[in-house]
Amino acid sequence: MIQIRPATLEDSLEITSLFRDTVTHINKKHYSEKQINAWASSADDQEEWKKRIDKYYFIIAEIESNMVGFAYLKNGNYLDGLFVHKDYQRQGIGSKLLRIIESQVMMTDFEILKSDVSKTALPFFDNNYFEVIKKQKKTHKGVIFENYLVEKTL
Ligand SMILES: CC(C)(COP(=O)(O)OP(=O)(O)OC[C@H]1O[C@@H](n2cnc3c(N)ncnc32)[C@H](O)[C@@H]1OP(=O)(O)O)[C@@H](O)C(=O)NCCC(=O)NCCS
Repeated sequence: MIQIRPATLEDSLEITSLFRDTVTHINKKHYSEKQINAWASSADDQEEWKKRIDKYYFIIAEIESNMVGFAYLKNGNYLDGLFVHKDYQRQGIGSKLLRIIESQVMMTDFEILKSDVSKTALPFFDNNYFEVIKKQKKTHKGVIFENYLVEKTL
């Protein structure tokens, strides 16, 4: 049974550990070692993650009190992060987190949910009726990443 709850500052270590593991095990199928190392190193900045928990709409998915995923919304309608534990992929956790995120966006009167999504995640967003606006290149920590700007009208 998947439970969803708001993140607290005490979750930051577990969030960054899940993030690092998912990037290094799941996203590595679609990105180079250099890209994965740059991406995963964002986990090192605990203060930045605490700021995100504090400032954004940030939710956690748990199964039997174990963290199995998280998602957060920036600026009311930009999905800045959606990550599912590497050992719990394809069990409906991403979909459940997305449903709660979409409800939150609708409650705050936005009509469009946006995100920049990885090549790995594109089939998931496609399955959830997001439209690809453009394929793009973004620089993160000096390394170029190919990803997709997607949108969904709610
Ligand atoms: C993208 C992600 C969040 C999806 O979470 P999830 O819990 O595995 O997704 P769900 O189980 O809810 O999947 C729902 C449906 O989406 C589609 N889908 C999800 N992952 C897919 C994949 N890798 N390939 C093809 N279809 C996929 C399927 O239709 C799936 O339904 P099915 O399993 O019954 O076939 C997860 O794979 C992840 O953490 N990816 C790595 C991090 C990442 O890239 N995050 C995106 C932000 S950049």
